This record gives sequence, C-alpha cells and structure tokens, in this order.
Amino acid sequence: MARLLVIGFLICLSAGVWSKRKVRSFPEGFQFGASTAAYQIEGGWYEDGKGLSIWDIATHTVPSPIKDQSTGDVAADSYHLYQRDVEMMNEIGLDFYRFSISWPRVLPNGFSDRVNQAGVDYYNNLINELLKNNITPFVTMYHWDLPQNLQRLGGWTNPLVVDWFVDYARVLFDKFGDRVRSWITINEPKQICFEGYGSDSKAPFLNMTGIAEYLCAKNVLLAHAKVYRLYDEEYRKLQNGTIGISISCTWYEPASDTLDDHQAALDARQFDWGQYAHPIFSRAGDFPTEVKKNVALKSAEQGYRKSRLPELSAAEVALIRGTSDFFGLNTYTSKLTYRDASLEGMYAVPSYNDDMGAVMIKDPSWPQAQSSWLQEVPWGFFKLLVEIKNLYDNPPVLVTENGWSTAGGLLDDDRIGYYRNYLNALLDAVDEGCDVKAYTAWSLMDNFEWKNGYTEKFGLYEVDFNSPDHTRTPRKSAYIYREVIRSRQLDINYEPEDFTAESANSSGETEKNSSSNYYYK
Ligand code: NOJ
Repeated sequence: MARLLVIGFLICLSAGVWSKRKVRSFPEGFQFGASTAAYQIEGGWYEDGKGLSIWDIATHTVPSPIKDQSTGDVAADSYHLYQRDVEMMNEIGLDFYRFSISWPRVLPNGFSDRVNQAGVDYYNNLINELLKNNITPFVTMYHWDLPQNLQRLGGWTNPLVVDWFVDYARVLFDKFGDRVRSWITINEPKQICFEGYGSDSKAPFLNMTGIAEYLCAKNVLLAHAKVYRLYDEEYRKLQNGTIGISISCTWYEPASDTLDDHQAALDARQFDWGQYAHPIFSRAGDFPTEVKKNVALKSAEQGYRKSRLPELSAAEVALIRGTSDFFGLNTYTSKLTYRDASLEGMYAVPSYNDDMGAVMIKDPSWPQAQSSWLQEVPWGFFKLLVEIKNLYDNPPVLVTENGWSTAGGLLDDDRIGYYRNYLNALLDAVDEGCDVKAYTAWSLMDNFEWKNGYTEKFGLYEVDFNSPDHTRTPRKSAYIYREVIRSRQLDINYEPEDFTAESANSSGETEKNSSSNYYYK
C-alpha cells in the first residue's frame, strides 16, 4: 500500500512538472495565421459594381436589427486599406492570412454570367500583396454574405443553391487558383443554418426553426462536397492545393455525472457540430445517429409524415464523405449541459432545441469576455481536440478561428491570458497525439461583429472607426503573438519591451478585466 502511494505521488509529481513547463515549443512545421471575413472588414459595400448581400440588406433595414444600429458599409475600410493590413501581418510575422471573398463583389447577381472585374482586381491585388510579402493566402469562399438575389430565391433552403455555389467556386478557382493553394469552402455551417434560417440571430433572420435549418444543412453539405469534387476532378492536378471546410465547435460538458446529463452533452455535440462534421469526416458518413433518431421521433410524435431532417440518399452520403483535406476548426468556448424535467415546455415545438433536448448553461466561475456567449475554458478546447481525434480517425486539424472579445483598449491582458491558455491546451492535445497543424487568431483587427455591430472587439489590432483613415494600432496581444510566431514557442513569462504603457495609454483606454490565471491540464 505504502509503495503504491509513493508511486502515485511520483506520477503526480512528474505530470505536474510536465504540464507546468513555462516555455513550450510548437511542432516542426506548425503554421500561425490570423483571420478576417469580407463583410466584417471590407466596407466598399456599394462600390465598383459590387452587388448587395443579405448583410447589406439586414443592416439597412429600419428599424435596425444591429445592437448599435451600425453597418458594414465602411467597416475597417479594408477595401481601400488592404496594403496597411498586409503591413500589419508583416509586423506580427504571420505565416498565412485567412480572409474571405465576398460573393456579390465578384458575382453581383450571384450567378456566374456576369463577373465584376473590379472585384476580381481587388482580390488579385490583395493576393499579390500577400505573396510579395511571403504570406500564404488562405481563402474562404463563403463567410455569410450571400448575394441578396439568391436569397430572394430561398437562399440556402433552395436545393439549386448547390449549383450556384459550384458555379461561383469555379470562377474563384479560374481567377485565383493559380496563386491560392489553400481553400475553405464554407465558414461555420451551423451558424449559417441555425442562426440564419432557424433563428433570427444572423441574416437572413428567417426564424423557422425545426424546418429551415435542416433544409439548409443538407444543401450546405452538398454545396461544399460538390466544390470539393470539382477541385479534385478539374483543378487539383494543375493547382496543387488543399481544400476543406471550417466548422464551429463548442465543447459541451455534462453538468453532472448523471446518465441524462452525459447523453444531453453528447446530443448537444452531435446537433451543434456533428451534424456537419459526421457526414464529412466519419467513416460511416451521413448525419449522426443521435440527430436522425431524435428528429425522426419528434417529427412522428408531432404528426409529420416524414422526419423534418431531410434524408441523405446513399449516393449523397458517398458524395459528401471524405470531402475535406483537413478539419477546419473554429472554436471559442464551452458550455455545461443537462437534461431533466425542466425541459418540458422550455422550447418551441417543433424546434432544433426541442429536437436536441438539452439545456446549455454557463458556469459563472469561468472568465467572461465582452461577448455574452464567450467564456474562457481551455480544458474544453483540449477535450474537443481529443474528441475530434477519436471520432474522426485523427484528421489533420487546422484551427481556423480562436479569439477573445473585449470592450476595447490596447492593454488587453485578458485576451493575452486567453490566447496563452488556449495555445497551451493545444500543445497538450498535440502531446496526446492530436494532429494539429495550424492556429489562426480571430481576428487580425477589430471589425463588424454581426448583430453586435462594433460593441465587441476581437482584434489583435485596434481599429479607430471614427478616424477618417481607420487607424490601426497593435494591442499588447499583437506583441505577444508576434513573439510566439518568431520563437515558435509559448513562453508565459514573455513581456514585450517595445510595448509601453504610454502607447497603451494613448488610446485612452485600458482593459477592465485583469489577466486570467494560467491554465494547467
Ligand atoms: C465566428 C465567425 O466566423 C466570425 O465571423 C465571428 O466574428 C467570430 N466567430 C466571433 O464571433
């Protein structure tokens, strides 16, 4: 017995020393980047022949659905300031820049019969500027700004959108594929489908839950898969790139040890991201069993003749399965999950939430960002990476988004704490055998945070939206990230010498929250 205790003590001690290393190295070849999206930074909303997107329409609706009544008409003005953006990337030393192409800037009506040359020129200039500076362009084809013309035809609920998206992708491969070697088809399908069609938190605010998000899910998956197949069949050989999808994943932790809470957490993961990841990354393909079962059962109880979740035929399952060269992971936070009698009557019928049958709550002890949904839970990130490894045969994972919002200010110690803790968790997952190959900070600069307008700042660079030249200034976190990239190491004690209190004070603001504690697995 005494011997066992001693061995146990020694194991704990060595695990403690292991996890408390203060300087940790990233694996050979690991890549670092930062991310933005067209509508959130570009502005130039009605310039040089650009067509209107669903977000142009949303932000110009009266009364405005946006928290601060703002729009992305000018945003960070990157349509005019892209050279300064690339300068910033150079200052930090990014390996790659993840940005998105605005569909209506390239195809004003959504269809490929008319290409807007000025839009093509803009992206050519940006791509060339990146390459000139040795920064790899990582291009997202769709980051939520659907051409309004296509929305009038039902948008992502119309099965024809699959072909429209393929036509659009072909234009992008033809125009940019000689220089762009890294593609993401679609950013965050759940947020497109559930938030845009199943609720009113994203454009087009359709709010038809229980029906619309499932129609959208099938079409988004098919659109993604067909573009992947198109690349494989017609472009890959010539252009030699990689192509995948970015899925937003939250970690759902059972609120207690009851079987119900474990099942609720599992269902929440499957509804939230398994719905999109399972058809692409699992061996079996198709929607996850939990999702199919829950929606079919509820639909039958509710008197529908068929499940509200559309079926994927055997041919469609085969078409979708295996269509991503990497797992593009956007991840920010975790939630506690439970299931009990209080669920009765909690959600609308029918609805996605009712189908899922889980309650998701925050733990008040977790550090809170400016965005109400965002809390710092690095161990949840670790668990998520291990779950992806276990569920999908350890795919190469590119973290395509991760970041923290504040109310503003240059001295952003809480953002620094978040980045360090999440990078530390990422390295723990690598030690666990997860094949994580890249990390992308969201965001390079402050931008239009959708329904929350400019009230939440995610930038490594602060943008002064009131100055005529939209001045960009690096926050302290930009200096910290620069050192991570330069050294290829995470050093929790690093203090940048060239970041001074004066430069922080010149913005007139500092952070409210103090830095969070360092996290150990
Ligand atoms: C995910 C989205 O892709 C991005 O557009 C958004 O700004 C961030 N999350 C933060 O909410």
